[in-house]
Amino acid sequence: MTILPDFSLKHYNTFGIDVNTKYFAAFSTIDELKELLDSQLSTNTKFILGGGSNILFTKNFDGLVLKNELKGIELVNEDANHFYVKTFAGENWHRFVSYCIQHNYAGLENLSLIPGNVGASPMQNIGAYGVEIKDVFESLEALKKSGKTIHNFSAKDCEFGYRESVFKRKYKDEFVILNVTFRLNKVPVFNTSYGAIEQELEKMKVQELSIQAISQAVINIRSSKLPNPKQIGNAGSFFKNPTISFTEYQTLQQVHTLMPHYKVDDLHIKVPAAWLIEQCGWKGYKNGDAGVHINQPLVLVNYANATGKEIYNLSEEIKRSVQNKFGIELEREVNII
Ligand code: FAD
Ligand code: EPU
Repeated sequence: MTILPDFSLKHYNTFGIDVNTKYFAAFSTIDELKELLDSQLSTNTKFILGGGSNILFTKNFDGLVLKNELKGIELVNEDANHFYVKTFAGENWHRFVSYCIQHNYAGLENLSLIPGNVGASPMQNIGAYGVEIKDVFESLEALKKSGKTIHNFSAKDCEFGYRESVFKRKYKDEFVILNVTFRLNKVPVFNTSYGAIEQELEKMKVQELSIQAISQAVINIRSSKLPNPKQIGNAGSFFKNPTISFTEYQTLQQVHTLMPHYKVDDLHIKVPAAWLIEQCGWKGYKNGDAGVHINQPLVLVNYANATGKEIYNLSEEIKRSVQNKFGIELEREVNII
């Protein structure tokens, strides 16, 4: 276990932002993590890094970046209906999903191909195609940075919401997630109602529905829509889809009659941020190497050498124009560092 000084993070964030961290180290055991948390350096700021797919570095990092490489997948329990699978935080998310699909552990297929690692998945309750991890979450273990004690969190303790959890708000930067246990189904409950899944399954000429087929359909849809960070730097959706009150929706709808919308509950409506951004004329926008993706305007991109500041400034401009045109405040989903 080595602490490396002045380390480039360009290949450790999917935006491909070229910044340095004062110190960098990787840990693959809890003892190594504890030792690194105790290390006395010229700075006390310690940041836990997974796959770097939901962060935007806007400047050099004046601290110690700790790359989580805790590995392992274990079937820890089963009952009549479920498998309980414990996975360590440093496992790649899609590799874990693929492992579950191979073993016929059902429930994660709609979450195929999301970048990043298992440890960050409860941070913001990752979601796609009608499923969020809260739907299959059993518990997690996390190390409290101060005191180095290990705590168990149930789903209720995590206070999951749309791209939200206690780890993003109340306990921000206080815990290192060590492992997550998922409750997966023995008999699959297929969820094909969202987006273009059914259409894609038809296109694939699937005769018999399976978790393998759903996973492949999701992979096909995602690959056709979202830019691959290996080719174009990005961190997925930059903003959340905003929720507005039903009254606000009614007022806006009179002017913007074609505004797409989804009912959240009797009082609230969700509006796709991609549509709001497109209506403000940003789709396909490019200024230097910072831009707005041509197929999915909710995704901000780094074509080559954009700085984090340039991407951040672009996000500010987008926020302002959506606020001016629609009176809706967009909230960033990506963590700004
Ligand atoms: P990182 O970016 O490394 O970290 C994110 C945050 O979590 C940081 O604050 C970090 O400090 C913290 N963190 C990481 N690991 C730990 C840990 N072990 N303990 C405590 N804190 C930790 N997200 C979705 O929800 N749905 C999608 O469909 C989706 N699609 C995407 C598509 C693309 C092309 C890209 C690039 C991103 C997409 N994302 C999506 C966002 C991203 O994949 C997820 O947020 C993912 O969970 C981030 O994981 P990570 O390991 O890369 O986290
Ligand atoms: N739209 C446009 N113009 C476009 C593209 C989309 O107007 O160019 C509108 C359409 O009305 C479309 C709607 O936006 O129906 C929704 O688009 P899409 O299905 O692509 O999904 P999204 O709302 O943009 C969300 C998540 C994604 C997740 C997909 C699939 C958020 C912030 N984003 O995107 O998650 O993969 O649904 O479930 O909730 C991420 O979090 O990083 C992420 C990629």
